[in-house]
Amino acid sequence: MLDWSDIKSDAGPVARHDAPASDATGLGAIERGAARVTVDEKRLLNARADVNQILPMKYKWAWEKYLAACNNHWMPTEVSMQADIALWKSRDGLTEDERRMVKRNLGFFAASESLVANNIVLAIYRRLTNPECRQYLLLQAFEEAVHTHTFQYIVDSLGLDEGELFNMYREIPSITDKAAWALEHTRHLDDPAFETGNAEADQAFLRDLVAFYVVFEGMWFYTGFAQILSLGRRNKMVGIAEQYQYILRDESIHLNFGIDVINQLKIENPHLWTRAFQEEVRAMLKEAAELEAAYGRDTMPRGLLGLNAALCDEYMRFIANRRCAQLGLAPVFREADNPFPWMSEAMDLKKEKNFFETRVIEYQNGGALAWD
Ligand SMILES: [Fe+2]
Ligand SMILES: [Fe+2]
Repeated sequence: MLDWSDIKSDAGPVARHDAPASDATGLGAIERGAARVTVDEKRLLNARADVNQILPMKYKWAWEKYLAACNNHWMPTEVSMQADIALWKSRDGLTEDERRMVKRNLGFFAASESLVANNIVLAIYRRLTNPECRQYLLLQAFEEAVHTHTFQYIVDSLGLDEGELFNMYREIPSITDKAAWALEHTRHLDDPAFETGNAEADQAFLRDLVAFYVVFEGMWFYTGFAQILSLGRRNKMVGIAEQYQYILRDESIHLNFGIDVINQLKIENPHLWTRAFQEEVRAMLKEAAELEAAYGRDTMPRGLLGLNAALCDEYMRFIANRRCAQLGLAPVFREADNPFPWMSEAMDLKKEKNFFETRVIEYQNGGALAWD
């Protein structure tokens, strides 16, 4: 452990139990001659170890996700939109119901990518006091930029009304409700006076991680993926479907990073993971599934493409239970089956790994970006 009493600093002596906030950011005054960092000092939250030293590395899972994400790099402009443009512009290429679903789906994602990115950069990064996790967050932030680029590219290619799509999260109630729910859980972190280091604030940080990583990226995005991939399976909007496959691959790592961070925080801070807090997290996941059911009804008032609101509701319950299991919590719904077994292939970690390898080889060979 560092002996803080010996550390000389331009900023004067630093009390061991009252480290300034600048220590957490890594932008504080340099502690000249401070002792070298040891792995034992590294912590996800409220670390005393210098956040500017990635080595020695403690959280290998974060580094592995960083490497996997590097190998998955893609750009939306690599995907041809010609078939989508022809289908979108043809009079009878898509039904009105299909068009509504596509537009609302795009509208939901277009704003969501931005909300998630803002949360990483403005709320999470500052408080996650570990350089290997920050290394991954830097890459995740870039991936969210790539995803936002995807929606810009789609709007541009199809000639969609940009205001209709990007403002949808403020116009369509079921989309607004989801965004508002998530923002509710990050708002207090936006308070300039917010600092971690006490149980109340540290639990608030955990709630933010649950809302954005587990619910937003790990639950709500999955219905959205199912909608577009279902179209793609029927050879419709295949360009967007391919882009969504790449986004799904990125998001599955985002989700798993968030789950790993939460589970490690539980280990390092068992006093935060109280019975009452566990129940609160379970209630959050249940509420999120209910919000998603409303979105399902809004985007698919009638059934289409083997999808309907009831099946999406069932899917969300299945996913919610799965997320509970990943967090070590009891399921929130009665046993739910996966109504979209074809989606589970993309979600299955083993399959996902094979997919990464396939994509990497394709990319290195300069081959087509076909995904099956
Ligand atoms: Fe994203
Ligand atoms: Fe994401």
